[in-house]
Amino acid sequence: MKVGIPKERRVNETRVAATPETVRKLKALGVDVVVESGAGATAHFADADYATAGAEISTTAQALSADIVLKVQRPTSEELSAMKNGSMLAGILAPYADKALVAQYASAGVNAFAMEFMPRITRAQTMDVLSSQSNLAGYKAVIDAASIYGRAFPMMMTAAGTIAAARVLIMGVGVAGLQAIATAKRLGAIVSATDVRLATKEQVQSLGGTFVAIEDEETKQAETAGGYAKEMSDAYKKKQAALIAETIRKQDIVITTALIPGRPAPVLVTEEMVRTMKPGSVIIDLAAEQGGNCPLTKPGETIEVNGVKIVGAVNLAGRLAADASALYARNLLNFLSPLIDKTTKALKIDWADEIIKGTCLTRDGQIIHPAVKV
Ligand code: NAI
Repeated sequence: MKVGIPKERRVNETRVAATPETVRKLKALGVDVVVESGAGATAHFADADYATAGAEISTTAQALSADIVLKVQRPTSEELSAMKNGSMLAGILAPYADKALVAQYASAGVNAFAMEFMPRITRAQTMDVLSSQSNLAGYKAVIDAASIYGRAFPMMMTAAGTIAAARVLIMGVGVAGLQAIATAKRLGAIVSATDVRLATKEQVQSLGGTFVAIEDEETKQAETAGGYAKEMSDAYKKKQAALIAETIRKQDIVITTALIPGRPAPVLVTEEMVRTMKPGSVIIDLAAEQGGNCPLTKPGETIEVNGVKIVGAVNLAGRLAADASALYARNLLNFLSPLIDKTTKALKIDWADEIIKGTCLTRDGQIIHPAVKV
C-alpha cells in the first residue's frame, strides 16, 4: 500500500501534507510513502530528509497514482486525472466552494475526504485541521497588522514623551480570534473582541480582553451543537452593527475572523464604518476568501480607503509553512492511522464511524456527503 505526497500546485500554496516526521510514522504503520521531488521545498523540508525518513522520492505521476493521496489543497483537474480509480484522497478540499470538483472525484472513482468537515468531537481533536491552521493564521494576522501599522503596539514612556498603546478589536472569537487576542496582548495592545456566541465572553476575558457584544435571547442560541455560529436575524444584525459602529471608530487595528460554515462570511465592517476610522488604521480580514467580513475587502490584496488599509488575507497559515505543514501533516497522520489495518497493513475503513461519515464526500463513484449531495 502506497501513500503519495504530491507537490502542491495551487497558487501561493507553500505547505506540504507530510513531513519527514510523519513519513517515519506512516512507515511504522507498514505503508510505503512516495514523496514528489521538491514537495516540501517551500516549507523547508528537503528531499534528502524525506528519503532518510524512509520515503521514496518520486515523480508527480508516481505520487498521484498512489493508493492514498494526501494533499493540502484540493487537486487541480489535471492532478485528479492522474489519480487511480478506487484510491483515497484526503485534504482541505473546499467542497462548498468547488462543487464541480466533488462531482469529478465521484466520476474518477476517488474516495475523497474533506478534512475541514472533521466533526468537533474529543476523539477527532488531533485531526482538526481548521484548528491547527486557524491558530497560526490568528497569530500571523496580528504580526502582519503590527508590521503594516505605522505606530507601535505597546504603550512606551520615554524621555521624549509617551506613546499610547494601540487599540485592537478582534471580531469573531473562534480559534483564530483567540490566538489573535493572545498575540495582540503579548505585544502590549489594548484588546477588545466580539462574537455572537456568548460562550466566548469568558474566553476573551480570561485572555485579558474586553468583551463587546449584544447579549440577548438570540445569542443564547447562537451556537450550533457542533460549536459553530448560526446566521443571525436581521434585527440582531442591526443592533450588532450599531454597537460595532460605536466601537470601531476608536480602534487602530481590526482583525476580522467571523465565519459561518457553508455560508458567505457575515458583513461586520461596512464601508461607512471604515470611513469613521482614523487614517493609519489597519483592517486584516481573515474571512476574505469566504466573501470577507468587510465588503471592501479584496482577497489577496491590500487596499486603502480614507487612509485605512484593508488587507484581504489569504492563506496566512501558508506564510508559516514549516509550522503549518508540521501540524497539518500530524492531523492527517492521526486521521489515517486508525484506517490502516494492523495485520494486513491495508486500508480498512469503518464507513459507519462518525469521523468517516463527517468527512467523506465521495465513495465508490457516488457523492455521499449530505452537505454537497445534490
Ligand atoms: P469559525 O472559524 O467557524 O468562526 C470564527 C468565529 O466567528 C466563531 O467564533 C463564530 O462564532 C464567529 N462569528 C460568526 N458569525 C459572527 C457574527 N455575525 N459576529 C461575530 N462573530 C461571528 O469558528 P472556529 O474557529 O472554527 O471555532 C468554532 C468553535 O469551535 C469555537 O467555540 C471553538 O472553540 C470550537 N472548537 C472546538 C474544537 C473541538 O474539537 N471540540 C476544536 C476547535 C474549535
